[in-house]
Amino acid sequence: MTKTKTKRAAVILAAGQGTRMKSSLSKVLHKVAGRAMLDWVIDLAKNLDCEKIIVVTGAHNQDATAKVIAQLGEAAHALQDPPLGTGHAVLCAKTALAGFDGNVIVLYADTPLITHETASLAFQALENGASVAVLGFEAKEAGSYGRLIENQNCDLLEIIEAKEASADQLAINLCNSGVMAANSANLFAHLDNVTDDNAKGEYYLTDVVGLAVKAGQKCVAVRGSETEVLGVNSRIELSVAEQVWQQKRREEAMLAGVTLFAPETVFFAFDTLIENDVIIEPNVVFGPGVTIASGAHIKAFSHIEGANIASGAIIGPFARLRAGSEIGEGVHIGNFVETKNAKLANGVKANHLTYLGDVTIGKNTNIGAGTITCNYDGYFKYQTKIGEGVLIGSDTMLVAPVSIGDFAMTGSGSTITKDVPNGALSLERGPQKTIENWATKFHEKSAKAKAEARK
Ligand code: UD1
Ligand code: MG
Repeated sequence: MTKTKTKRAAVILAAGQGTRMKSSLSKVLHKVAGRAMLDWVIDLAKNLDCEKIIVVTGAHNQDATAKVIAQLGEAAHALQDPPLGTGHAVLCAKTALAGFDGNVIVLYADTPLITHETASLAFQALENGASVAVLGFEAKEAGSYGRLIENQNCDLLEIIEAKEASADQLAINLCNSGVMAANSANLFAHLDNVTDDNAKGEYYLTDVVGLAVKAGQKCVAVRGSETEVLGVNSRIELSVAEQVWQQKRREEAMLAGVTLFAPETVFFAFDTLIENDVIIEPNVVFGPGVTIASGAHIKAFSHIEGANIASGAIIGPFARLRAGSEIGEGVHIGNFVETKNAKLANGVKANHLTYLGDVTIGKNTNIGAGTITCNYDGYFKYQTKIGEGVLIGSDTMLVAPVSIGDFAMTGSGSTITKDVPNGALSLERGPQKTIENWATKFHEKSAKAKAEARK
């Protein structure tokens, strides 16, 4: 008989005040690698195959509450008002989990870097017969973390909060990450017996371990690394989480065949996808939604988000690619060029000082320096369509909506407001007037006047 996997659910705690962030934004909505910490944890819960995910927020986390309801629906939200501790927070999810019979994992929304592999260990421990599993880690400085007390058989006996710990217990380095897993009925049964008779006057989730052991149940601690279980309480810790994640991502990229000359200056987003044999020069920042195909070259000081870059493309230095940029094979985007909602077919070149917004450009077209698609009239955005093989003269203003036919040209300095047919040249300038010696005379006259004034 095949053993059916026990059902899984997650309770994500996000009701803390986050006071130390000094922010009007809820702590759990602050981002690591371009994604809210809460979203990292929701994603983890989904990857763990949790069929129910309940997020507990407080009355003061209106922004986080709205996000949870928008993303996961009302049924996925539980309110903790007022917050009376981590144990109380999990109890607040009991109604939302009514009818669920399976294993529950408790995750903290301010602990964004826990991997799927590590969190899985807690579920596996339950599947191997433990009643309660806690994710622990060896801390360099255990500080205010709860301490995990094990016996010689490596059974977990209890969790002692730092405030309650004796000197001997404080010397223990095995700490509580906050992640705990247990069967739902068992977890809530123990939580009903947790009291607030402790140093903080709070209902501690951690007391579940001692209560389970007293009831003759087996509790275990599984292990993760300290950097992975890092909790964010301040902007400093937020920057540490960012650093830890970026460092890991840079190493992954290099191991996968991406060249980074100065890895510590390149910043990826959570979803950046880069194939092998891409070269990324120093000081490049990726926002969300970027894919780069093999053989592309990203030069220094470029900022890229919402862009798909095909092979052989050369981007930068100092390029800015924004949402909806589709960059074809062998395209060159040069210095101080910005693209947004711009589809550039293979071989397009826009090498200098240009804005390309709401535009499609056919293959091998050359966009002269200083070209601007004038796409916005203050109320609406309009499209520009440029055909293939076109030569757009330097400093052309393309006032959208406007379309330039295949193999057409525009004269430098033209403001193009009407469509240009295939193969035509359009230019829009006053005739050039030349006055011989005008400048020479001007300089002579002006220099003389200045000399007189100095006397
Ligand atoms: C908790 C653990 C401690 C562990 C540490 C790891 C307890 C009693 N202690 O302590 O053993 O080493 O985390 O970082 O659990 N929250 C609520 N409602 C509340 C209180 C907290 O939702 O009433 C949420 C917070 O938003 C946060 C998480 O629970 O996401 C942890 O709360 P926090 O107050 O930071 O717990 P610690 O004192 O750090
Ligand atoms: Mg904490």
